[in-house]
Amino acid sequence: MGERRAMGEIILELRNATKRYGDILALDHFSYQFEEGVYGLLGPNGAGKSTLMKGITWNIAMDEGELFFLGEKIQGYRKKYIGSIGYMPQQQRIYDTFTGVRFLYYMAALKGIPKATANKQIPELLQRVNLVEESRRRMETYSGGMKQRLLIAQALLGDPAILLMDEPTAGLDPKERVHIRNLISEIARNKVVLIATHVVSDVEYISKEILLLRKGKLACSGSAASLSASIQGSVFEARLPKEEMERAMKEYRVAAVTPEEDNVRLRILRKEGMPDLPCEGVHPTLEDVYLYHFGENA
Ligand SMILES: Nc1ncnc2c1ncn2[C@@H]1O[C@H](COP(=O)(O)OP(=O)(O)OP(=O)(O)O)[C@@H](O)[C@H]1O
Ligand SMILES: [Mg+2]
Repeated sequence: MGERRAMGEIILELRNATKRYGDILALDHFSYQFEEGVYGLLGPNGAGKSTLMKGITWNIAMDEGELFFLGEKIQGYRKKYIGSIGYMPQQQRIYDTFTGVRFLYYMAALKGIPKATANKQIPELLQRVNLVEESRRRMETYSGGMKQRLLIAQALLGDPAILLMDEPTAGLDPKERVHIRNLISEIARNKVVLIATHVVSDVEYISKEILLLRKGKLACSGSAASLSASIQGSVFEARLPKEEMERAMKEYRVAAVTPEEDNVRLRILRKEGMPDLPCEGVHPTLEDVYLYHFGENA
């Protein structure tokens, strides 16, 4: 499925995308170039992740900025562009009384996909998201994971070049999370896949690049490895007697507490050199990067 694209071709580009809600700057001069591959969009509640996605889908109008699709500037509603987007919103209406297969036909009709194309794609998509057996059941009988997988199938209708998934694994158990993560990896060929999430592990291993969004601004971006390297020297592990834990928790930004027999092991993030504790430097993870940028007082 999908057209072949030149390696490194920029599929989607935003320049200075800005959205205000009254006094709130939900998105603040956001610029980025997206090529084929998975991009993880991380940021705390209210960072502007959903606003960015709604802007890309044209579900909301930006106040400022420009958007380019395959090098062409998109102004206003363009059918060719909108037809190239698959979107899985954070809150999606579920038609509980529909069967899975009926829901997909309904969504295909809304997207203007010809019946013959839908007839071909829907069975393929059901197979891909592993819902062939459940597809004739009403959606009210689906588990959370099944619903999310059906919503992914819906976003893939029409084989879009841009796939936007807003919190695709919210509320799922670890097994379903892995399932969805692997599914996203598989479908990323020839597409820009942008995934908004709070769950670092959802995007850590499958993303070509991770974008950290803070108060509507891009705080930093890059591969998981380069982001981890960027805070090298700021993560420490200390082993302390339990009685000393409270003081250390007050003084330092603690990413994790692991109880041991008589001691506790603390993972400490510190921008200004070694903590004043017996400790050793450790290799930062992407989760550390997240806390480094979004921890308290950040
Ligand atoms: N329709 C709206 N009216 C007013 N303010 C809004 C509206 N939608 C979003 N906002 C504000 O814009 C900011 C960004 O919100 P957005 O939903 O994009 O964040 P988010 O990163 O998706 O958060 P979450 O992780 O909770 O989904 C927030 O301050 C939010 O309150
Ligand atoms: Mg959101």
